[in-house]
Amino acid sequence: MERGIFISIEGPDGSGKSTQIENIKRYFKDKNMNILFTREPGGTAIGERIRSIILDNNCSEMDYMAEAMLYAAARAQHVAEKIRPALEEGKIVICDRFVDSSIAYQGFGRKLGDAVRIINDFAIGECVPDVTFLMKLDPRVGKHRIREDEQDRLELEKDAFHIDVYNGYLELEKAYPKRIFGIDASQTIDAIKDDIYMKLEEVLKSVAR
Ligand code: TYD
Repeated sequence: MERGIFISIEGPDGSGKSTQIENIKRYFKDKNMNILFTREPGGTAIGERIRSIILDNNCSEMDYMAEAMLYAAARAQHVAEKIRPALEEGKIVICDRFVDSSIAYQGFGRKLGDAVRIINDFAIGECVPDVTFLMKLDPRVGKHRIREDEQDRLELEKDAFHIDVYNGYLELEKAYPKRIFGIDASQTIDAIKDDIYMKLEEVLKSVAR
């Protein structure tokens, strides 16, 4: 069966992820390749509803495990409804955050540990990204890029939380060196783009059929 390519983009809040997502989309569009862009938490009608509960600044009493399970529930729907079918059609799926966000934010940030990986194994099954771009930027730097009045419930967490999340990402990079491609996100936008495009060339070569 033909299978597309699954790309996820990860990183702490304010790491410049959105700018580079636009560059990744452009890379494939310029090659006239069929892409599906989607994001987490959300990407489906059910997922967007779950997202609005999770990110609501009025839900400050949310239990951490409940939060992790809501993310995993949104992800299960996302995989079943959008990601898996698109990959089966041979599309390039570009996803703004995926399972690594849960491991970093809920596993390391909320300190729920391995439980997060286990519930997400149920949510995603075999649907693991082929390549994950990790925007590496110290969260104390990234934070200043987000306007205070635009911060959601997770972004308002204390510095220590964001440092734990970032360390979680660095652990993931070490654990999955073949899948996760770390990028120095303190470079200029163009230098970051060059790093990403170089990796994308390599990915396309490796799946050339
Ligand atoms: P989002 O609004 O997409 O922000 P960003 O533009 O930084 O990606 O993400 C919302 C927040 O949700 C963000 O702080 C990361 C967090 N998050 C988790 O904690 N766990 C998850 O599994 C996902 C997907 C996101």
